Amino acid sequence: TFQAVLFDLDGVITDTAEYHYRAWKKLAGELGIEIDRSFNEQLKGVSREDSLKRILAFGGKEGEIGAEEFARLAERKNDSYIEMIAAITPDDVFPGILPLLEALQAAGKKIALASASKNGPFLLEKMGLTRFFGAIADPGAVAHSKPAPDIFLAAAKGVGTNIRACLGIEDALAGVQAIKAAGALPVGVGRAQDLGDDIAIVAGTAELTLAYLEEVWRQAQR
Ligand code: BG6
Ligand code: MG
Repeated sequence: TFQAVLFDLDGVITDTAEYHYRAWKKLAGELGIEIDRSFNEQLKGVSREDSLKRILAFGGKEGEIGAEEFARLAERKNDSYIEMIAAITPDDVFPGILPLLEALQAAGKKIALASASKNGPFLLEKMGLTRFFGAIADPGAVAHSKPAPDIFLAAAKGVGTNIRACLGIEDALAGVQAIKAAGALPVGVGRAQDLGDDIAIVAGTAELTLAYLEEVWRQAQR
């Protein structure tokens, strides 16, 4: 059976994927670029800098923005995002996540965070979940962001587990690709049309029980 679960955060543990979207939409709007939810699928799981690059390219403005302005825009997005997440509490943890973390811990499974977000440690604290995590991979310390495998490899290493013995839970296509590239077994939260029809997918986090994860692992015949 599996030894560890590597969690994405935004859109898996709580609804911050929505806040990232609203903060990017606001910033893009100020630049005269209109983004919608379908475009946003390409931003999910993607680092702050890569997200801004994609938005500028989408708006045909990548040539117009110098390095300093780029850094200022990324900071401005983060400032409005931080305002949005300031009021997050343990009540904002998605359904099923707290019981899952408790069950994993009781079963002796390792738990690690594999989020691209530099706000991950702050959010875990606000939600009262830090104590469950044996490791929080540092997105600032990896060479390549999702869909590259680096952050999942770092998370597995952080809890001293072979990546082949890990499950990864993701709501983003870039994240599912990263889990696959790393060699862990992906579980998607969302829709097959966004994440692919070749992986186990739940529509909502309430379905993420230890028994379900054990069954996914058994069916993958690792
Ligand atoms: C990912 C989110 O978890 O973190 C992305 O899915 C976000 O939307 C990325 O851009 C980086 O987050 P942050 O908080 O460091 O800007
Ligand atoms: Mg996510």
